[in-house]
Amino acid sequence: MIRSIEWIGSGVRFIDQTKLPTEEVYVETHELSVLAEAIASLRIRGAPALGIAAAYGIVLGLNNSVEVTGEKLRSDFEKAASLITSTRPTAINLFWAVERMRGVLHRSQQRSPRETIEQLLLEAKTIHREDEEMCAAIGRFGAELVPQQATILTHCNTGALATGGEGTAQAIITTAAAQGKNISVFADETRPLLQGARLTAWELQKHGINVTLITDNTAASVMKRKKVDLVVVGADRIAANGDTANKIGTYNVAIIAKEHVIPFYVAAPTSTIDSSLKNGEMIPVEERKAEEVTEGFGTRTAPYGVKVFNPAFDVTPNKYITAIVTEHGVIRPPYDVSIVHVMKKAVQGV
Ligand code: MRU
Repeated sequence: MIRSIEWIGSGVRFIDQTKLPTEEVYVETHELSVLAEAIASLRIRGAPALGIAAAYGIVLGLNNSVEVTGEKLRSDFEKAASLITSTRPTAINLFWAVERMRGVLHRSQQRSPRETIEQLLLEAKTIHREDEEMCAAIGRFGAELVPQQATILTHCNTGALATGGEGTAQAIITTAAAQGKNISVFADETRPLLQGARLTAWELQKHGINVTLITDNTAASVMKRKKVDLVVVGADRIAANGDTANKIGTYNVAIIAKEHVIPFYVAAPTSTIDSSLKNGEMIPVEERKAEEVTEGFGTRTAPYGVKVFNPAFDVTPNKYITAIVTEHGVIRPPYDVSIVHVMKKAVQGV
């Protein structure tokens, strides 16, 4: 399995996802600024991987705080937290991980800065290990929804690159295949940054899964002309009513799946659920720079001066979502009720 990010010695090592699929470049760093830049520029990406990176990032931000006062340690923590949370606004995992780390800081009032940093590193490693376990559980629960012979359509990248384990939506695909099911996948290329083409196609090929790459605007035609059994996608933030933010274009896929009576599943750990937001309208949606659309990957494809609207995510209303696969099982509408239940299970750890 590819490790999107790892703690090694006193720093992190991550695969630079902007270089894939043509180059497999790993970056090692002890600098929070390098990690923060990597998150902002999508060298590290995918909601669960962002949570893990954020947790390790806090530890990197405290690299020089071993010999300081408790007060200085706390102010260094806040500086690191604010740099990390300024990188990308939509994926809740980033904020969720920083909050978990802050909890450790608060519980460490009686510890020396060195011991506190040790505890923070332990927590970051726990977040990483738990994410790996959550991916495996999502894969197992989700695979039960996959028929023996299945054609699956997916959008963006939700594999090992995007998480600390086998992935979320993609773990469902790989688990079903590992169970001996006959799986074919249509992967949307995922404009403008091509996570589907560059990353999902690459990962699924490595798994030996029968994957066919399509442009985003081919999905409706594929649903009409080929037999698609189900759609499964990941999530960056799920509101309390089940409305789901995910990579731009997910909403289109959900609408056309409904029109073709194809189940549309979202796969995400409970760390991606933001129960504090009543509905998806409250989810902040990141807007990225125009050049990603007008000259993505170095070739100018639009006239200079044209106006561009480039949101990185959209929000799929809950009415299009057949079920959400979490590490605690598959939940179904009404989501305002089932999300409360699954969050209780998450707190109790059952
Ligand atoms: O902008 P990205 O590449 O970070 O967006 C990623 C997605 O939208 C994924 O579908 C989502 O984070 C789930 S990853 C398991």
